[in-house]
Amino acid sequence: MTSLDPTQTDAWAALVRHRDALAGTQIRSLFESDPDRFTRFSHTQGGLTVDLSKQRVTVETVSLLLDLAAAMNVEDRRAQMFAGETINITENRAALHVALRDSSGRSYMADGVDVAPGIAATRDRIAEFAQSVIDGSCTGHTGQSFDRVVNIGIGGSDLGPRCVVTALGTHCGIHADFVATVDGNALNDVLSVADPARTLFIVCSKSFSTQETKTNADAAKRWLTGVLGADAVAAHFVAVSANPDEAAAFGIPQDNVFPMWDWVGGRYSLWSAIGLAVAVGCGQDAFDRLLTGAHAMDQHFESAPLDQNLPVLAGLINVWNRNFWDCPVLVVQPYDHRLRLLPMHLQQLVMESNGKGVTGSSDAVSHAVAPVVFGGSGSESQHSFMQLIHQSPMVVPVEFIVSLNGQNDPNRDKIFANTLAQSEALMNGLPAEEISQESGENLAAHKSCPGNRPSSTILLDSLSPETLGALLVFYEHRTFVEGTLWGLNSFDQWGVELGKHLASGLLSDIAAGHARAGQDSSTAGLLAAYLAQ
Ligand code: F6P
Repeated sequence: MTSLDPTQTDAWAALVRHRDALAGTQIRSLFESDPDRFTRFSHTQGGLTVDLSKQRVTVETVSLLLDLAAAMNVEDRRAQMFAGETINITENRAALHVALRDSSGRSYMADGVDVAPGIAATRDRIAEFAQSVIDGSCTGHTGQSFDRVVNIGIGGSDLGPRCVVTALGTHCGIHADFVATVDGNALNDVLSVADPARTLFIVCSKSFSTQETKTNADAAKRWLTGVLGADAVAAHFVAVSANPDEAAAFGIPQDNVFPMWDWVGGRYSLWSAIGLAVAVGCGQDAFDRLLTGAHAMDQHFESAPLDQNLPVLAGLINVWNRNFWDCPVLVVQPYDHRLRLLPMHLQQLVMESNGKGVTGSSDAVSHAVAPVVFGGSGSESQHSFMQLIHQSPMVVPVEFIVSLNGQNDPNRDKIFANTLAQSEALMNGLPAEEISQESGENLAAHKSCPGNRPSSTILLDSLSPETLGALLVFYEHRTFVEGTLWGLNSFDQWGVELGKHLASGLLSDIAAGHARAGQDSSTAGLLAAYLAQ
């Protein structure tokens, strides 16, 4: 991949000049001078309205950012992704997750092979299996139907499906649990309330070599066979993996293994059989509708001109905040209890994709890359970290997500009012002069808020499988756009490997009962404390 340095483009230089010209501008004053600002900077697609009007942007800003998109070949890169070209150059792979959401019959080529038939066949298997678990025709070793599914996986083999199941809820009579951490307490918590005869385990691991997942799967197998005997494994374990041999070595029959493909990155894999827990927990219909909404956003991203393209515009604005206004953090605030795990999913998506130190052509990056993403349920965050966002000198852009139709929430007016209050407060602030001086008090400096803090608001028509699919894909493509603007390969994650490697060395040290010669005194001292207990 030859990758341009965005900072060397004319568009970048123009944006620097433009930033300087805008430095004294208050966002609220942009509303005063343009009564149509909300309409101008809001875009609706697939049940989502993305309001970018409270960002520090003008028509000229967007135009200059679009010049940057042109300079960094966003359109070509988009076409390469949909064409199945080897855009994940360090792993020599395509990144073809868009194919997983398309049931139109279109061909998607990876390495000269059409992957669409394999995807369609797997979707049929998922549907058939999920239905049989839900209707009770698929039973456990003792002939009883399942009442619980336990997804064992980590990273992309956990966060996506966990986020979706939490958002959509389980309504088919099968309780869904997720176990990711290697800390055995998590699995024990689940097993302590599970009935072995009625529990189905889905072991999700693209590689089938991940320590956490293998450890938990082994422990679950011991728990199950301890009660039901060794023969029970085949009826209670299925796997999703691109490494069926390892799944077989674990004892899962070939017929119970759902395929994964190397052209699907872990954090983009929810749409494959990694979403099996969604199909079983929320129902196959919900899973299908999730994919339908996801595909609609793919179509929009693939075909809409860049100046009307939601993931492109939102990605450009994130780069504007990150690189031109030096905002190192992005807060995501779902004002919807059901979306409370979305920030965790986005942390992996954004930071594992674009938290890189070199460009696609192996040069050190000369600019900031992905922000630190964090967030949580909006209502609760107001009473914890939002203090810093309102008053600390560091400017942190915020992204609010809220549904127009709160469905069963009796307090939806309060949720909606609080969402808008936060974005208004961030933008308008509170000048010290407007604070009344009560007798004996002189707290104006403490109570005032600087304002002029950018935010976006994403309105969902309602939280449905379709809008959730569209929302998650909006984020995937926005991340890809940002990575392209930064000249990165957004589809590898080499940085996580070093810690994995060191952990296995330290496990050997623990087994040996002593630190290795040459270990730093901190690591050796901490290890000695552990070994001394
Ligand atoms: O360690 C990071 C990572 O490779 C993620 O990218 C991935 O989602 C996760 O581990 C789990 O990997 P696997 O599905 O192969 O177990």
